[in-house]
Amino acid sequence: PYPLYEELRKTPVLHEEEDGPYVFSSYWDIEALLHDPRVSSDAANLTAAGADELSKPEETGLPPSFIRLDPPEHDRLRRITNSAFGPPHKPRRIDSMRGELADIVTGLIDGFGDARQIDLVDQFAYPFPVTVICRLLGVPREDEPKFRGWVDPVVASLDPDTRRDADAEFRKTAQEARMQLGMYLSSLVEQRTKEPQDDMLSDLVSSHGPDGAMTMMEVLSTSLLLLIAGHETTVNLITNGMLTLLRYPDILARLRDDPGLSANIVEELLRFEPPVQIVPQRSTIADIEVRGVTIPKGSRIWLVLGAGNRDPERFSDPERFDPDRGDIQHLGFGSGVHSCFGAPLARLETQIALTELARRLDGPRLVEDPPPYRQNAVLRGPRHLNIAFDA
Ligand code: HEM
Repeated sequence: PYPLYEELRKTPVLHEEEDGPYVFSSYWDIEALLHDPRVSSDAANLTAAGADELSKPEETGLPPSFIRLDPPEHDRLRRITNSAFGPPHKPRRIDSMRGELADIVTGLIDGFGDARQIDLVDQFAYPFPVTVICRLLGVPREDEPKFRGWVDPVVASLDPDTRRDADAEFRKTAQEARMQLGMYLSSLVEQRTKEPQDDMLSDLVSSHGPDGAMTMMEVLSTSLLLLIAGHETTVNLITNGMLTLLRYPDILARLRDDPGLSANIVEELLRFEPPVQIVPQRSTIADIEVRGVTIPKGSRIWLVLGAGNRDPERFSDPERFDPDRGDIQHLGFGSGVHSCFGAPLARLETQIALTELARRLDGPRLVEDPPPYRQNAVLRGPRHLNIAFDA
């Protein structure tokens, strides 16, 4: 249970400090605000206090990606990305990746070797999504280790824990990795412009739809968005997923016998333990009234998805993990125009990962419960998840 969220929901419109954010924790308010055109995601509308790494152009030297833009610019970039992700004239790229995802998962589990205890984060959940994004974008296999070597410090440098503890040397490594990653992607994009291949980068630069193609800078910004938005989130969904299944062994046993259950399990996980707990990147561009309270134009807004997902006004028995619930319309992927672009991929990755882990690990059990968590209010997930098993 999340006692803090229960407390929060008692004050549905919470505003504690004059220049602080308005915090929303009820399911229906969050859902409505995510669809409200008076609520902006534009980085330019966020005060310095509300902006994050992805929103600060000086950190990346790139134009803002579509997660930090409002329509119509958001829609143009998202549509082009979508046509590269799942062109309407051929099977969606991710559907054709099912076999490849299963191979990556099998390879990672085989990599456990004779060990009888593993850290699921380091040995499985962390390397999986970055390998998938490499394949999706079209990073050549031989470059994958190099690419991952850059992504690791870049992603780590976004984590508040690491940022707090980072010394000058780590900062330098992360900055260098960010530059190398940018340069590598630029050269790959240039190559794909000249000689298109069957991959997402080629489709992004050669898109011929009514929206035209992206500029080189837009492609870079979009590729980094896919990498960053799709990394830690997926790591946490897989890790939160295995943690939850180990706490509900009857459901783990059912999944082992019936992989068909994985779709409902993943949906219920996105409600019960969503990796993104808060959407803090919103501001009002007009006065808005919610439950009789006027939120003035220019206010920062935090939407606590994790609290909305356990709102008893929306879900019966919300504190129970129950993949058999009929109606799992959760907020785990957000909602509205910015609802998660990578949702179909994240679902497929997690379904395959959990099913294979359930099938291959014999007698799995938690070494430590609760495991150590990342100190991060937005992205929730264990820093390590040690699991022991018999074979
Ligand atoms: C947006 C969650 C995986 C790409 C979002 C948002 C949430 C979310 C809550 C809404 C943010 C907002 O409203 O400001 C998750 C979770 C994931 C996941 C829980 C894994 C379990 C992925 C993956 C990708 C991805 C794998 C890419 C391949 C994106 C993008 C956006 C987004 C591009 C921005 C969409 C837009 O602004 O239109 N995600 N995500 N996500 N996600 Fe995900």
